[in-house]
Amino acid sequence: MTDRDIWVFDAYGTLLDVHAAVRALSAGDEARWAAISRTWREKQLAYTWLTAASGDYVDFTSLTERALDYALFKHSETRAEIRDALLAAYDILPATDGAHDLLQRLKEERHATIAILSNAGAKATRRAIDANGLGAWIDHVLSAETLQTYKPDPAVYALVETIPGFRTRESVRFVSANAWDAYHASAFSLNAIWINGAGEPGEQIARPPSQMIAGLGEVRI
Ligand code: LAC
Repeated sequence: MTDRDIWVFDAYGTLLDVHAAVRALSAGDEARWAAISRTWREKQLAYTWLTAASGDYVDFTSLTERALDYALFKHSETRAEIRDALLAAYDILPATDGAHDLLQRLKEERHATIAILSNAGAKATRRAIDANGLGAWIDHVLSAETLQTYKPDPAVYALVETIPGFRTRESVRFVSANAWDAYHASAFSLNAIWINGAGEPGEQIARPPSQMIAGLGEVRI
């Protein structure tokens, strides 16, 4: 059997459109809801780093809820039904632009092994990718939850070494739209690709990824 390429994807923000939950509610007040969505996401990520650094692990679903409560409070949004609707939508986020096409090409043209490496629990990630159809292309879902910590703890990136067919870190393509994730995966020696759709400046810590491109549609396979 020939060696298969291994492609590993971040989930939230990379394959799953994290701002879709809010967008569905935002008609007529897009700017306010975009700000709520940004605060929600920023707090969610900050809480992962803080709980990992303090050694006081809290699971990703719970941090997502707490981050949402922070965002709603900050933006004076008090309606309980809005909170419920946002959390329900977050469970079944749609795929990001280009995700279906890229995974399909990787499977059909390259016969690649495709995995997800997420800070979220494997069950929640599976539920989302099964709901939006990406699950059909994904062979393995690896979760930081099994280690009770979060990316960018190197122990989480080391989970890629458990993927059947793993050869070397450098041969694993790791795709993330989160700059910090791509930079730290690169520091772990994975062949990292940063999807920088917003044209953000490069990070000044960890290690630059081997490629930076504007969208999943530009990934060369
Ligand atoms: C994840 C977060 C970082 O899916 O978006 O791991």
